[in-house]
Amino acid sequence: MDSSLCTVGVVLGGVAPEHEVSIISALQAAAALDRERYRPVPLYVAKDGTWYTGDALLEVDTYRDMDRLREQATPVALHPGGYGTLRVVEVPPESRWQRMRHAPLRHDIDVMLLGLHGGPGEDGSMQGLCETMGVPYTGSGVLGSAIGMDKGLSKQLCQQADIPVVDFVVLRDGTWAHHEEEQLTRCIDTLGLPLIVKPTRCGSSIGIARADTRAELNAAIEDAFRYDSKVIVEEAVSDLREINCSVLGTPTDATPSVLEEPVPSAEEDVLSFQDKYMRESDSNTGGSKTGGPEGMAALDRIIPAELDDATAASIQEMAVQIFQLFECAGIARIDFMMDRTTGTVYFNEINTIPGSFSFYLWEPSGIPFDELMHRTIQAAQQRFTADRGRIRTYDVNLLSERSLSGLKGSKS
Ligand SMILES: Nc1ncnc2c1ncn2[C@@H]1O[C@H](COP(=O)(O)OP(=O)(O)O)[C@@H](O)[C@H]1O
Ligand SMILES: [Mg+2]
Repeated sequence: MDSSLCTVGVVLGGVAPEHEVSIISALQAAAALDRERYRPVPLYVAKDGTWYTGDALLEVDTYRDMDRLREQATPVALHPGGYGTLRVVEVPPESRWQRMRHAPLRHDIDVMLLGLHGGPGEDGSMQGLCETMGVPYTGSGVLGSAIGMDKGLSKQLCQQADIPVVDFVVLRDGTWAHHEEEQLTRCIDTLGLPLIVKPTRCGSSIGIARADTRAELNAAIEDAFRYDSKVIVEEAVSDLREINCSVLGTPTDATPSVLEEPVPSAEEDVLSFQDKYMRESDSNTGGSKTGGPEGMAALDRIIPAELDDATAASIQEMAVQIFQLFECAGIARIDFMMDRTTGTVYFNEINTIPGSFSFYLWEPSGIPFDELMHRTIQAAQQRFTADRGRIRTYDVNLLSERSLSGLKGSKS
């Protein structure tokens, strides 16, 4: 094994509805890693939360049959590995005989490439685990990931920075259960109809519906509460164009990509899970990097979006402003909604781990996928080094004999 290579723990799967989408994104990223610099080690989080590693997990076909996957992969546990590394160690087999037969598999991970979508992988929890384990990780930190995952808080943050958002109301399950009629009236009186209803912390259009009547609104809210304890009800943009922009960098040095306009299928009101991940690919995305399904890269889209230069530049500027506002790092994608009639552009949502790492937006922006991943990993390492350079503990032991007398009467 070449010790000059940086070992990259490619985290994929996860306990989230977007489990399979994550597998595609992360394997695309692993395949794009420059092998002169990086050695990918897959770290697969199964739907039951068990972590696995093994070379077979770098192949998309392995995930087609979970029983076979378990035969080919090794369950692992995570341990802090000393300054800047995470130690991943095989979980010892139950039987003593098996334990004696081989040395446990072990990897020391230099940087975690977080390829999870939705749930605890994207909402700051996994980022917090990496912070606690003391290992660099790609993408945004705990704060940006957590706020970015919440569609209500994201919109509030943008509102405060004078970035346009559609009018919205956030409902909580505790209040909804006792005041349904009152809350329905409040939504319709303040926002009118039609409305869009979403769980606040999901993705991939899961649990999202359009409501044209009070009865539909009621049903849509009930359904959204199956996914989340908070639901956002929004004014529907009627003559909608969706425009997305990826941003790469750090809060102090961020670059926008070219813009994309995803195209929903004719029958759908909103871009559906099917639109995003289950359509046949077309040729404008540069083809599959994994020899398997293409994830977000397969969506029908126009790149670059057909907009005049001034509008495109103002959306890119807003995207960078939002990236900085959320203190993002690495790659994010910021999605906007444009009202075709009025030309108004609204912030819709931020994806702090975007599908396919938005590589299909960076290639036409002049940054190939390998360079994109290299820059993302570099940003992770720079953040880690900068954070560790700050004061985090004091050398003085306040509980030592000499200092103890000075602590009398202090908060216990
Ligand atoms: N206010 C809105 N008006 C009209 N369509 C909307 C609105 N909000 C969302 N949509 C549609 O629903 C899709 C999914 O909503 P979005 O907020 O992007 O959630 P997700 O995280 O699931 O992608 C959007 O891509 C768009 O097609
Ligand atoms: Mg979206």
